[in-house]
Amino acid sequence: MILPVYLYGHPVLRQEAKDVPANYPGLEKLIADMFETMYHAEGIGLAAPQIGLSIRLLVLDGDPMSREYPECKGFKRVMINPVIEEYSDRETATEEGCLSLPGIHEKVMRPDSIRIKYADENMVERKERIGGFAARIVQHEYEHLDGLIFIDGISAIRRQLNKKKLTNIIKGQTNCSYKTKASGK
Ligand code: NI
Repeated sequence: MILPVYLYGHPVLRQEAKDVPANYPGLEKLIADMFETMYHAEGIGLAAPQIGLSIRLLVLDGDPMSREYPECKGFKRVMINPVIEEYSDRETATEEGCLSLPGIHEKVMRPDSIRIKYADENMVERKERIGGFAARIVQHEYEHLDGLIFIDGISAIRRQLNKKKLTNIIKGQTNCSYKTKASGK
């Protein structure tokens, strides 16, 4: 089932999400719905707060980026209660977008690689080191769990340039090809 994507301005995107408990009801269906929603919107990552659920759950599939970034080939993951344990010192700035901010693309500086632990869709604990653009996708989605959004760190000038677009997103005035839910302010 395709779910509406909550847009920038909605308070759920600013909450600190809670851990997913063991035996969370309907988890399998929720994960399937999140993948369906993400693919429908042509996204490569989706965090549960973006569908209005303040829980620590991410779905990711970087495969559409694999031509430009080979490390994304087959990078499909479900991450439950992820914890990034280590960030590389080396950082790179690359352009990002977000399904909750349609039409906005900004360069974001991020560490090149991370070490992360999480539970997979079967609640089996996994640990891995992830690098390149795949690490960027994970970090972007992970931030959503702490109420952060990728444009939070952009310069005042860049923010000013995006002001009109952001106002329109808050009002729900977007040209999205997917279902959305605006804050209604
Ligand atoms: Ni996002």
